[in-house]
Amino acid sequence: MRMVDIISRKKEAFSLSEDEIKFAVSGFVNGKIPDYQMAALLMAIRLAGFDENESFFLTKEMTNYGSRVDLSEIPGIKVDKHSTGGIGDKTTLIITPMAAACGGRVAKMSGRGLGDTGGTVDKLESIPGYRTEISPNEFIANIKKTGACICGHSADFATADTKIYNLRNDTATTDSMGLIASSIMSKKITSGADKILLDVKAGSGAFMQTFDEAKNLALLCREIGRLSGKEVRAVITDMDTPLGAAVGNSLEIKEVIETLNGGGLEDLRGLCVLLAAHMLNMAGLGSLDECTLKAQNSLKDGSAFNKFLEMAENAGADTKYIKNPALFENAGIIRGLVAKKSGFIEKLNAKTIGRASFILGAGRAVKNADVDFSAGVVLKAKQGEYINAGDLVCVLHTNNENAANEAEKLICENIVISSAQPPKVPLVYEVLA
Ligand code: URA
Repeated sequence: MRMVDIISRKKEAFSLSEDEIKFAVSGFVNGKIPDYQMAALLMAIRLAGFDENESFFLTKEMTNYGSRVDLSEIPGIKVDKHSTGGIGDKTTLIITPMAAACGGRVAKMSGRGLGDTGGTVDKLESIPGYRTEISPNEFIANIKKTGACICGHSADFATADTKIYNLRNDTATTDSMGLIASSIMSKKITSGADKILLDVKAGSGAFMQTFDEAKNLALLCREIGRLSGKEVRAVITDMDTPLGAAVGNSLEIKEVIETLNGGGLEDLRGLCVLLAAHMLNMAGLGSLDECTLKAQNSLKDGSAFNKFLEMAENAGADTKYIKNPALFENAGIIRGLVAKKSGFIEKLNAKTIGRASFILGAGRAVKNADVDFSAGVVLKAKQGEYINAGDLVCVLHTNNENAANEAEKLICENIVISSAQPPKVPLVYEVLA
């Protein structure tokens, strides 16, 4: 078998066999196939398409590299939740303690941010002292003790996906549905959970720009799950508007704390209740209605907040920041942007806010670069809402004057305020059970 023939067949839109996919992935991971040939194959896949069988074969092959998490010591059905990525998406940090407070067991491995979307690990590390690099034994011990643990991936976790994902990032091939599905599902399968809940995002701040694309991705992941013996449920949600108000690491943690205390914005709180309820239901802890009530109560009675505190204590965090979020260090420059005229906000989308937050210092352009934990954007009004001239639209947080000017310019150029009320967009489009 030769890599050049595999590239050529994909270029002609033939469906690749399991052996061909195995040959390409194993050769690339083991250093026998150079980056330029793998990059050519990825571009051919991106342009010619990748069917369900090919996506399953790729997923299966990728699970053969790196460590696997063994959760068999933890009793009960373990449900993992994964979001396809979005701006201001802090749901993992809220639903993990919610589900644990309601009797669920949540073993969550998360990543750092890359590009405009943030990463759960960065957000947690913005709490002074919070350790996300822990051993598998500590991970399991924390779940047994508290019911939940969120940690970073170990260095040898998902090695094939990491190598392929980095190449996709550098070759404009991230936006291939088959490659996204294989990347997500290979990680979920090696994470060790019995069942998987996916939050598949659609809109300007997501990989999938439209509902139809997001639904196809959800269906593809569900089918890969079925072929791999894992039940997958998918919730398709809007990501044209950032979720909640805050975008940026410690800004989002403050919003997480507010939401866990029963406050925060309705969109974020509502989605967290829905996702937590589905996790509990998949874990066999009641009907969807019963689990919805349990999830709602965990926010009202303080039990979800207390679980978050316990998780933070286990991770060595200084919990005084969680008890008193005013202690978080503020950025040196805090600049409010006001509406120049009255009207409905027709456009202030997730793509613009994600980019602005990145410019302000909240994101990283390359792996391992530092992020400014205090940087980001806090929305004071959202897409679809009415605003008066002079009212605050958002507040920029940064330590860099040039970045503040650039982010301000970007937002001013991209916000559209009009007299007609835009149609209301639902936050949850569909649940594929
Ligand atoms: N999330 C992943 O883990 N992989 C992708 O390719 C896209 C989103």
